[in-house]
Amino acid sequence: MRADGELTVGLLGAGMIAGVHAHAYRGSPGVRLVAVADPVPGKAERIAGRYGATVVPDLGALLDLGVDVVDICTPPTAHAGAAIEALQAGRHVLCEKPITRTMDEARRVLAAAEVAPGLLSVGQVARYGPDHRLARDLAASGEVGLVRMLSHSTTTSLPGWSEAGWLADAATSGGPLLDQGVHGFDYARWVIGSPAVRVHCMASGSGAGPLTYTLATVRYENDAIAHIECSWAHPASRGFRLRAEIIGTEGRLSWDYDHMMGGVLHAREGDAEWWDVLGDREFTLELSAFFDACRDGGPPPVPAAEAAESLRTALAAIESARTGRTIDLTTWEA
Ligand SMILES: NC(=O)c1ccc[n+]([C@@H]2O[C@H](COP(=O)([O-])OP(=O)(O)OC[C@H]3O[C@@H](n4cnc5c(N)ncnc54)[C@H](O)[C@@H]3O)[C@@H](O)[C@H]2O)c1
Repeated sequence: MRADGELTVGLLGAGMIAGVHAHAYRGSPGVRLVAVADPVPGKAERIAGRYGATVVPDLGALLDLGVDVVDICTPPTAHAGAAIEALQAGRHVLCEKPITRTMDEARRVLAAAEVAPGLLSVGQVARYGPDHRLARDLAASGEVGLVRMLSHSTTTSLPGWSEAGWLADAATSGGPLLDQGVHGFDYARWVIGSPAVRVHCMASGSGAGPLTYTLATVRYENDAIAHIECSWAHPASRGFRLRAEIIGTEGRLSWDYDHMMGGVLHAREGDAEWWDVLGDREFTLELSAFFDACRDGGPPPVPAAEAAESLRTALAAIESARTGRTIDLTTWEA
Protein backbone atom coordinates (compact mmCIF):
# COMPACT_ATOMS: atom_id res chain seq x y z
CA MET A 1 0.00 0.00 0.00
CA ARG A 2 1.32 3.45 -0.87
CA ALA A 3 1.66 6.22 1.70
CA ASP A 4 -1.53 7.84 0.39
CA GLY A 5 -3.46 4.60 1.08
CA GLU A 6 -3.88 3.57 -2.56
CA LEU A 7 -4.32 -0.18 -3.01
CA THR A 8 -3.38 -1.83 -6.28
CA VAL A 9 -5.25 -4.96 -7.36
CA GLY A 10 -4.42 -7.87 -9.63
CA LEU A 11 -7.40 -9.83 -10.88
CA LEU A 12 -6.92 -13.56 -11.41
CA GLY A 13 -9.56 -14.92 -13.78
CA ALA A 14 -11.48 -12.71 -16.18
CA GLY A 15 -14.86 -14.41 -16.41
CA MET A 16 -18.32 -13.42 -15.27
CA ILE A 17 -17.69 -12.55 -11.62
CA ALA A 18 -14.36 -10.88 -12.39
CA GLY A 19 -16.27 -8.38 -14.53
CA VAL A 20 -18.63 -7.70 -11.61
CA HIS A 21 -15.68 -7.17 -9.24
CA ALA A 22 -13.84 -4.90 -11.69
CA HIS A 23 -16.94 -2.75 -11.96
CA ALA A 24 -17.49 -2.73 -8.20
CA TYR A 25 -13.91 -1.54 -7.42
CA ARG A 26 -15.15 1.84 -8.60
CA GLY A 27 -17.19 2.04 -5.41
CA SER A 28 -13.92 1.97 -3.41
CA PRO A 29 -11.95 5.22 -3.77
CA GLY A 30 -8.18 4.73 -3.78
CA VAL A 31 -8.35 1.26 -5.32
CA ARG A 32 -6.74 0.73 -8.72
CA LEU A 33 -7.02 -2.36 -10.92
CA VAL A 34 -3.50 -2.80 -12.27
CA ALA A 35 -3.50 -6.10 -14.13
CA VAL A 36 -5.67 -9.03 -15.19
CA ALA A 37 -4.68 -12.64 -15.96
CA ASP A 38 -6.70 -15.39 -17.62
CA PRO A 39 -5.46 -18.30 -19.75
CA VAL A 40 -8.27 -17.95 -22.31
CA PRO A 41 -7.19 -15.55 -25.03
CA GLY A 42 -9.13 -12.27 -25.16
CA LYS A 43 -10.84 -12.51 -21.76
CA ALA A 44 -8.30 -10.55 -19.71
CA GLU A 45 -8.03 -8.00 -22.53
CA ARG A 46 -11.74 -7.29 -22.33
CA ILE A 47 -11.71 -6.33 -18.64
CA ALA A 48 -8.26 -4.72 -18.69
CA GLY A 49 -9.21 -2.55 -21.67
CA ARG A 50 -12.32 -1.28 -19.97
CA TYR A 51 -10.57 -0.27 -16.73
CA GLY A 52 -7.14 0.82 -18.01
CA ALA A 53 -5.27 -2.22 -16.64
CA THR A 54 -2.48 -4.36 -18.12
CA VAL A 55 -2.86 -7.97 -19.30
CA VAL A 56 -0.41 -10.48 -17.83
CA PRO A 57 -0.16 -14.23 -18.46
CA ASP A 58 -0.60 -15.66 -14.96
CA LEU A 59 -0.45 -15.26 -11.18
CA GLY A 60 3.37 -15.19 -11.14
CA ALA A 61 3.32 -12.17 -13.43
CA LEU A 62 0.65 -10.46 -11.29
CA LEU A 63 2.84 -10.93 -8.22
CA ASP A 64 5.91 -9.64 -10.08
CA LEU A 65 4.05 -6.38 -10.65
CA GLY A 66 3.93 -5.88 -6.87
CA VAL A 67 0.15 -5.58 -6.54
CA ASP A 68 -1.10 -5.17 -2.96
CA VAL A 69 -4.17 -7.36 -3.46
CA VAL A 70 -4.84 -10.51 -5.47
CA ASP A 71 -8.53 -10.98 -6.23
CA ILE A 72 -9.15 -14.65 -7.11
CA CYS A 73 -12.07 -15.09 -9.50
CA THR A 74 -11.21 -18.48 -10.99
CA PRO A 75 -13.26 -21.71 -10.72
CA PRO A 76 -13.02 -23.23 -7.21
CA THR A 77 -10.53 -25.96 -8.15
CA ALA A 78 -8.01 -23.17 -8.88
CA HIS A 79 -8.59 -21.25 -5.61
CA ALA A 80 -6.28 -23.08 -3.19
CA GLY A 81 -3.05 -22.97 -5.19
CA ALA A 82 -3.51 -19.31 -6.08
CA ALA A 83 -4.51 -18.24 -2.56
CA ILE A 84 -1.52 -20.01 -0.99
CA GLU A 85 0.96 -18.59 -3.52
CA ALA A 86 -0.38 -15.03 -3.14
CA LEU A 87 -0.45 -15.25 0.67
CA GLN A 88 3.11 -16.59 0.74
CA ALA A 89 4.13 -13.68 -1.46
CA GLY A 90 2.81 -11.34 1.26
CA ARG A 91 -0.29 -10.08 -0.55
CA HIS A 92 -3.81 -9.50 0.68
CA VAL A 93 -6.18 -12.01 -0.90
CA LEU A 94 -9.85 -11.85 -1.67
CA CYS A 95 -10.99 -15.28 -2.81
CA GLU A 96 -14.37 -15.90 -4.41
CA LYS A 97 -16.67 -18.48 -2.78
CA PRO A 98 -16.47 -21.35 -2.09
CA ILE A 99 -13.12 -20.92 -0.36
CA THR A 100 -11.90 -24.10 -2.12
CA ARG A 101 -13.39 -27.22 -3.72
CA THR A 102 -12.34 -29.62 -0.94
CA MET A 103 -11.70 -29.54 2.82
CA ASP A 104 -8.09 -30.68 2.31
CA GLU A 105 -7.49 -27.62 0.17
CA ALA A 106 -9.30 -25.40 2.68
CA ARG A 107 -7.08 -26.65 5.51
CA ARG A 108 -3.96 -25.86 3.48
CA VAL A 109 -5.26 -22.36 2.72
CA LEU A 110 -6.10 -21.76 6.41
CA ALA A 111 -2.59 -22.85 7.40
CA ALA A 112 -1.03 -20.47 4.86
CA ALA A 113 -3.27 -17.59 6.02
CA GLU A 114 -2.35 -18.18 9.64
CA VAL A 115 1.29 -17.27 9.11
CA ALA A 116 0.89 -14.76 6.26
CA PRO A 117 1.23 -11.02 6.79
CA GLY A 118 -1.68 -10.28 4.42
CA LEU A 119 -5.42 -10.67 4.99
CA LEU A 120 -7.53 -13.43 3.48
CA SER A 121 -11.26 -12.86 3.07
CA VAL A 122 -13.78 -14.96 1.15
CA GLY A 123 -16.53 -13.73 -1.17
CA GLN A 124 -19.54 -14.98 0.81
CA VAL A 125 -21.43 -12.11 -0.71
CA ALA A 126 -24.88 -12.95 0.71
CA ARG A 127 -23.66 -11.30 3.91
CA TYR A 128 -23.49 -8.03 1.96
CA GLY A 129 -26.86 -8.10 0.18
CA PRO A 130 -28.58 -5.08 1.74
CA ASP A 131 -31.73 -7.15 2.43
CA HIS A 132 -29.75 -10.03 3.92
CA ARG A 133 -27.60 -7.70 6.03
CA LEU A 134 -30.52 -5.64 7.31
CA ALA A 135 -32.40 -8.83 8.24
CA ARG A 136 -29.35 -10.18 10.04
CA ASP A 137 -28.79 -6.88 11.88
CA LEU A 138 -32.44 -6.78 12.97
CA ALA A 139 -32.25 -10.38 14.14
CA ALA A 140 -28.97 -9.75 15.97
CA SER A 141 -30.48 -6.76 17.79
CA GLY A 142 -33.27 -8.99 19.13
CA GLU A 143 -36.13 -7.57 17.02
CA VAL A 144 -37.59 -11.06 16.48
CA GLY A 145 -36.51 -12.57 19.77
CA LEU A 146 -34.27 -15.60 19.68
CA VAL A 147 -33.77 -16.99 16.15
CA ARG A 148 -35.07 -20.57 16.05
CA MET A 149 -35.61 -21.26 12.37
CA LEU A 150 -34.35 -19.90 9.07
CA SER A 151 -35.17 -20.79 5.50
CA HIS A 152 -33.28 -19.72 2.42
CA SER A 153 -34.17 -20.68 -1.12
CA THR A 154 -32.43 -19.86 -4.38
CA THR A 155 -33.70 -21.48 -7.54
CA THR A 156 -32.67 -20.86 -11.11
CA SER A 157 -31.76 -22.58 -14.35
CA LEU A 158 -28.29 -24.00 -15.01
CA PRO A 159 -26.04 -20.95 -15.39
CA GLY A 160 -24.77 -20.95 -18.95
CA TRP A 161 -21.85 -18.55 -18.81
CA SER A 162 -19.03 -20.59 -17.24
CA GLU A 163 -15.80 -21.13 -19.16
CA ALA A 164 -15.91 -24.53 -20.93
CA GLY A 165 -19.05 -25.30 -18.89
CA TRP A 166 -17.23 -25.95 -15.57
CA LEU A 167 -20.38 -25.17 -13.53
CA ALA A 168 -22.16 -28.19 -15.00
CA ASP A 169 -19.23 -30.42 -14.01
CA ALA A 170 -19.87 -31.40 -10.38
CA ALA A 171 -16.23 -32.44 -9.90
CA THR A 172 -15.25 -28.80 -10.42
CA SER A 173 -18.26 -26.85 -9.11
CA GLY A 174 -19.83 -29.25 -6.59
CA GLY A 175 -23.18 -28.67 -8.33
CA PRO A 176 -25.82 -26.34 -6.92
CA LEU A 177 -25.47 -27.62 -3.34
CA LEU A 178 -21.95 -26.20 -3.21
CA ASP A 179 -21.86 -23.48 -5.84
CA GLN A 180 -25.18 -21.92 -4.86
CA GLY A 181 -25.98 -23.60 -1.54
CA VAL A 182 -22.79 -22.37 0.14
CA HIS A 183 -24.39 -18.91 0.21
CA GLY A 184 -27.42 -20.24 2.11
CA PHE A 185 -25.35 -22.38 4.49
CA ASP A 186 -23.02 -19.46 5.19
CA TYR A 187 -25.85 -16.99 5.69
CA ALA A 188 -27.80 -19.28 8.03
CA ARG A 189 -24.73 -19.99 10.18
CA TRP A 190 -23.94 -16.25 10.35
CA VAL A 191 -27.48 -15.28 11.40
CA ILE A 192 -27.97 -18.18 13.83
CA GLY A 193 -24.55 -17.63 15.35
CA SER A 194 -23.95 -21.23 16.34
CA PRO A 195 -22.08 -24.08 14.59
CA ALA A 196 -23.97 -26.54 12.38
CA VAL A 197 -24.04 -30.01 13.97
CA ARG A 198 -26.28 -32.14 11.72
CA VAL A 199 -27.21 -32.02 8.03
CA HIS A 200 -29.73 -34.00 6.07
CA CYS A 201 -30.34 -33.46 2.37
CA MET A 202 -32.58 -34.89 -0.30
CA ALA A 203 -31.93 -34.21 -3.93
CA SER A 204 -33.10 -35.25 -7.35
CA GLY A 205 -31.45 -35.13 -10.72
CA SER A 206 -32.62 -33.34 -13.83
CA GLY A 207 -31.46 -32.57 -17.35
CA ALA A 208 -29.05 -30.14 -15.65
CA GLY A 209 -27.26 -33.04 -13.90
CA PRO A 210 -27.44 -35.20 -10.76
CA LEU A 211 -28.42 -33.56 -7.42
CA THR A 212 -29.79 -30.44 -9.08
CA TYR A 213 -33.11 -30.12 -7.18
CA THR A 214 -32.04 -29.97 -3.53
CA LEU A 215 -33.56 -29.53 -0.06
CA ALA A 216 -31.26 -29.58 2.97
CA THR A 217 -32.07 -29.26 6.66
CA VAL A 218 -29.45 -28.23 9.20
CA ARG A 219 -29.50 -28.34 13.00
CA TYR A 220 -27.23 -25.98 14.97
CA GLU A 221 -25.57 -26.46 18.33
CA ASN A 222 -28.01 -23.98 19.93
CA ASP A 223 -30.92 -26.13 18.65
CA ALA A 224 -32.01 -23.67 15.91
CA ILE A 225 -32.78 -25.26 12.54
CA ALA A 226 -32.45 -24.13 8.94
CA HIS A 227 -33.86 -25.21 5.62
CA ILE A 228 -31.70 -24.49 2.59
CA GLU A 229 -33.29 -25.03 -0.82
CA CYS A 230 -31.37 -24.61 -4.02
CA SER A 231 -31.70 -25.70 -7.56
CA TRP A 232 -30.48 -24.89 -10.98
CA ALA A 233 -32.89 -27.31 -12.62
CA HIS A 234 -35.67 -24.77 -13.06
CA PRO A 235 -36.76 -23.88 -16.57
CA ALA A 236 -34.73 -21.06 -18.06
CA SER A 237 -37.75 -18.86 -18.49
CA ARG A 238 -38.25 -18.79 -14.74
CA GLY A 239 -35.17 -16.71 -13.92
CA PHE A 240 -33.52 -16.42 -10.51
CA ARG A 241 -35.83 -16.55 -7.51
CA LEU A 242 -34.89 -16.00 -3.87
CA ARG A 243 -37.02 -16.50 -0.75
CA ALA A 244 -35.79 -16.07 2.80
CA GLU A 245 -37.34 -16.10 6.23
CA ILE A 246 -35.92 -15.73 9.72
CA ILE A 247 -38.24 -16.88 12.48
CA GLY A 248 -37.62 -15.88 16.08
CA THR A 249 -39.46 -16.53 19.31
CA GLU A 250 -41.14 -13.11 19.06
CA GLY A 251 -41.36 -12.26 15.40
CA ARG A 252 -40.27 -13.04 11.88
CA LEU A 253 -38.58 -11.41 8.92
CA SER A 254 -39.15 -12.45 5.35
CA TRP A 255 -38.28 -11.25 1.87
CA ASP A 256 -38.35 -12.64 -1.61
CA TYR A 257 -37.79 -11.66 -5.18
CA ASP A 258 -37.74 -12.77 -8.77
CA HIS A 259 -34.98 -11.35 -10.98
CA MET A 260 -34.02 -8.59 -8.52
CA MET A 261 -30.36 -9.63 -8.64
CA GLY A 262 -30.29 -7.44 -11.73
CA GLY A 263 -30.14 -8.21 -15.41
CA VAL A 264 -27.84 -9.90 -17.85
CA LEU A 265 -26.25 -7.94 -20.64
CA HIS A 266 -25.84 -9.93 -23.86
CA ALA A 267 -23.74 -7.48 -25.86
CA ARG A 268 -22.81 -7.72 -29.55
CA GLU A 269 -19.45 -9.20 -28.57
CA GLY A 270 -18.20 -11.20 -25.64
CA ASP A 271 -19.91 -13.32 -23.04
CA ALA A 272 -23.04 -12.57 -21.08
CA GLU A 273 -22.37 -10.09 -18.28
CA TRP A 274 -24.28 -9.51 -15.06
CA TRP A 275 -25.78 -6.10 -15.05
CA ASP A 276 -26.91 -4.99 -11.63
CA VAL A 277 -29.54 -2.34 -11.99
CA LEU A 278 -29.31 -1.61 -8.27
CA GLY A 279 -25.64 -0.70 -8.56
CA ASP A 280 -23.64 -3.86 -7.80
CA ARG A 281 -24.92 -3.33 -4.30
CA GLU A 282 -23.63 -6.40 -2.52
CA PHE A 283 -20.36 -6.63 -4.43
CA THR A 284 -19.58 -2.94 -3.89
CA LEU A 285 -20.20 -3.34 -0.17
CA GLU A 286 -18.25 -6.60 0.04
CA LEU A 287 -15.22 -5.23 -1.77
CA SER A 288 -15.12 -1.93 0.07
CA ALA A 289 -15.32 -3.74 3.43
CA PHE A 290 -12.37 -5.86 2.31
CA PHE A 291 -10.27 -2.90 1.13
CA ASP A 292 -11.03 -1.01 4.37
CA ALA A 293 -9.84 -4.04 6.36
CA CYS A 294 -6.61 -4.19 4.29
CA ARG A 295 -5.91 -0.55 5.16
CA ASP A 296 -6.84 -1.00 8.83
CA GLY A 297 -4.80 -4.18 9.28
CA GLY A 298 -7.82 -6.49 9.66
CA PRO A 299 -9.79 -8.35 10.73
CA PRO A 300 -10.94 -9.94 7.44
CA PRO A 301 -14.66 -9.26 6.88
CA VAL A 302 -15.37 -12.94 6.09
CA PRO A 303 -12.74 -15.00 7.94
CA ALA A 304 -11.46 -18.00 6.02
CA ALA A 305 -12.30 -20.32 8.93
CA GLU A 306 -15.98 -19.33 8.69
CA ALA A 307 -15.95 -19.85 4.91
CA ALA A 308 -14.34 -23.27 5.46
CA GLU A 309 -17.14 -24.17 7.89
CA SER A 310 -19.72 -23.20 5.24
CA LEU A 311 -17.87 -25.30 2.67
CA ARG A 312 -17.90 -28.27 5.06
CA THR A 313 -21.67 -27.95 5.63
CA ALA A 314 -22.28 -27.86 1.87
CA LEU A 315 -20.03 -30.90 1.33
CA ALA A 316 -21.90 -32.73 4.10
CA ALA A 317 -25.20 -31.94 2.36
CA ILE A 318 -23.82 -33.46 -0.85
CA GLU A 319 -22.70 -36.53 1.10
CA SER A 320 -26.14 -36.83 2.70
CA ALA A 321 -27.93 -36.50 -0.66
CA ARG A 322 -25.63 -39.14 -2.15
CA THR A 323 -25.90 -41.69 0.68
CA GLY A 324 -29.30 -40.97 2.23
CA ARG A 325 -27.62 -40.62 5.65
CA THR A 326 -27.88 -37.74 8.10
CA ILE A 327 -24.38 -36.34 8.57
CA ASP A 328 -23.20 -35.66 12.11
CA LEU A 329 -20.87 -32.72 11.67
CA THR A 330 -19.38 -33.12 15.14
CA THR A 331 -17.62 -36.29 13.99
CA TRP A 332 -17.68 -36.24 10.17
CA GLU A 333 -14.27 -36.39 8.46
CA ALA A 334 -14.38 -34.52 5.16
N1 LIG B 1 -20.58 -14.47 -5.22
C1 LIG B 1 -21.37 -14.86 -6.20
O1 LIG B 1 -22.56 -14.66 -6.16
C2 LIG B 1 -20.73 -15.56 -7.36
C3 LIG B 1 -21.39 -15.61 -8.59
C4 LIG B 1 -20.77 -16.25 -9.65
C5 LIG B 1 -19.52 -16.85 -9.49
N2 LIG B 1 -18.93 -16.82 -8.25
C6 LIG B 1 -17.64 -17.52 -8.03
O2 LIG B 1 -16.62 -16.86 -8.79
C7 LIG B 1 -15.68 -17.82 -9.29
C8 LIG B 1 -15.61 -17.68 -10.81
O3 LIG B 1 -16.89 -17.94 -11.35
P1 LIG B 1 -17.38 -17.27 -12.76
O4 LIG B 1 -18.85 -17.43 -12.76
O5 LIG B 1 -16.78 -15.93 -12.94
O6 LIG B 1 -16.75 -18.31 -13.80
P2 LIG B 1 -16.25 -18.02 -15.28
O7 LIG B 1 -16.09 -19.33 -15.94
O8 LIG B 1 -17.14 -17.00 -15.92
O9 LIG B 1 -14.83 -17.34 -15.07
C9 LIG B 1 -13.72 -18.02 -14.51
C10 LIG B 1 -12.49 -17.55 -15.28
O10 LIG B 1 -11.31 -18.04 -14.63
C11 LIG B 1 -10.39 -18.38 -15.66
N3 LIG B 1 -9.36 -19.27 -15.11
C12 LIG B 1 -9.42 -20.60 -14.90
N4 LIG B 1 -8.28 -21.04 -14.33
C13 LIG B 1 -7.48 -19.94 -14.18
C14 LIG B 1 -6.19 -19.73 -13.66
N5 LIG B 1 -5.47 -20.74 -13.14
N6 LIG B 1 -5.68 -18.46 -13.67
C15 LIG B 1 -6.39 -17.44 -14.16
N7 LIG B 1 -7.64 -17.58 -14.67
C16 LIG B 1 -8.18 -18.81 -14.66
C17 LIG B 1 -11.24 -18.99 -16.75
O11 LIG B 1 -10.58 -18.98 -18.01
C18 LIG B 1 -12.45 -18.06 -16.73
O12 LIG B 1 -12.32 -16.96 -17.60
C19 LIG B 1 -16.15 -19.18 -8.78
O13 LIG B 1 -15.50 -19.50 -7.58
C20 LIG B 1 -17.65 -18.96 -8.52
O14 LIG B 1 -18.18 -19.82 -7.53
C21 LIG B 1 -19.49 -16.16 -7.21
